[in-house]
Amino acid sequence: MTDEAPNDFHPAMPAREEHLLPIWRMFFGEPSKNALVGWPSFAFEKPYWFRRVITLRMHLVSDPEAIGQVLLHNVANYPKPPLVKRMLSNLAGEGLLTSDGEAWREQRRLMAPVFAPGALAHFMPLFAQVAKARADRWTPGQIDVAAEATRTTAEVISRALFSDELALTTREASEHMHAALAAVGEYRLGVLVGAPWLDRSPVARRGEIVRKFILARLTEFIARRQADPDPPHDFMTRLLQAFGNGRSPQAAAKLALDNAVTFYIAGHETTANALTWSLYLMSQDQAVQDRAAAEAHAALAGGVDPEDISPRLPYLRMVLEEAMRLYPPVTRIDRVAAADDELCGHHIRKGDMVSIWPWVVHRHTRLWDRPDLFDPEHFSPEAKAGRHRFQYIPFGAGTRVCIGAQFALAEGVLILAHWLARFRFSPAPGHDVFPTADVAIRPRGGLPLMVSLRETGLMAAR
Ligand code: HEM
Repeated sequence: MTDEAPNDFHPAMPAREEHLLPIWRMFFGEPSKNALVGWPSFAFEKPYWFRRVITLRMHLVSDPEAIGQVLLHNVANYPKPPLVKRMLSNLAGEGLLTSDGEAWREQRRLMAPVFAPGALAHFMPLFAQVAKARADRWTPGQIDVAAEATRTTAEVISRALFSDELALTTREASEHMHAALAAVGEYRLGVLVGAPWLDRSPVARRGEIVRKFILARLTEFIARRQADPDPPHDFMTRLLQAFGNGRSPQAAAKLALDNAVTFYIAGHETTANALTWSLYLMSQDQAVQDRAAAEAHAALAGGVDPEDISPRLPYLRMVLEEAMRLYPPVTRIDRVAAADDELCGHHIRKGDMVSIWPWVVHRHTRLWDRPDLFDPEHFSPEAKAGRHRFQYIPFGAGTRVCIGAQFALAEGVLILAHWLARFRFSPAPGHDVFPTADVAIRPRGGLPLMVSLRETGLMAAR
């Protein structure tokens, strides 16, 4: 790691409080809208602390050993909270994200080959194609990188799932899906504050209409796919194959549907946010950006087969990993204790909530050198070698670690390579970047950046 910060750039973050805010502040003003606001400094210094939120007993754990205990070694004692399942299940059914126990175990086993490295190589040309097509639309000037990244990853995941099925891969289809997801957010609010009438808000009503529409379209599509003697090699075909053995076609179709929606939900906003924050950080540190762009240019020169390209982009991968350290796309991972336990020497009662915040763990003063600064050298091979395996957890950890992690990393690196080889990204004058989060972390009001053509870019990325 370098001794000095590369420049005096301090990545945007909310101010820390000297003391813990009173509970009522969590329900009013900025902390009620932005989960990153209102954190006390000591949260980033202590391995463990406890907070009672009305009747909820919450243990906030940042010690890597204890994180390992919750997510791996004693995982049977820490299931996901039922709230998460209730929120998502009317969209994602009983898919991998929302199922538990034997149903989850069997799906995870059957889906492992779908995400094996060999199977993922097949998607590399798709990543490159979608990234290039998006950049073809840009002209020098200001663009909203957050919106562009979301459109790109939505197109990637829908085409990885459904190939060229127009009813499911157009911008309109992706807008429908976003509307259905927005309704999930409303539902959560209703459940949390005990106000179920919120579920009948206009957002929730529209969400319900589009949810039915999407599920009907998907059901028709899957039936056609099951009858296709020569289907394309996309996720849908692989899911139908994985679930086909020993099940009725209807049962296989239902599981494939639930998981298609699950991949869509889990797999594109997250990756889009990782891209967005990577570009924000590099826009502020042109030396890092130039180095990443030179690497991308060299890797892409000569029209190398996209399947072989990831190993040629080690620095870009360090940048992406650093961006997910500072701005973890999933800010919190919650579990509920099924039985009494002990974490960091503290008693955990059955029913208590254990909350692990990558947002906090990744900026913890005991775990990281200069934790709030941007330095891709945090991910040099030497730095990684000396690290606890549970101190960097953007994809979670243990048995329920993100199944799409390798897909997301390959996608993120390849998209960034194509964009950086062609364009320079610089801050937009007059725009202050500020992170905001519910579970996902995004820049408030989008991320306007200035793009300009790199001189070497046109040859490199076409
Ligand atoms: C940068 C991108 C991504 C990030 C940061 C991310 C993060 C996460 C995290 C933190 C979890 C664990 C949640 C928990 O334990 O409570 C998770 C689970 C999951 N992710 Fe991702 N994810 C990303 C991309 C993807 C992609 C591309 C897909 C699919 C194509 C995907 C599918 C899933 C699924 C299905 C699960 C549930 C796994 C299980 O419970 O067995 N994710 N993800």
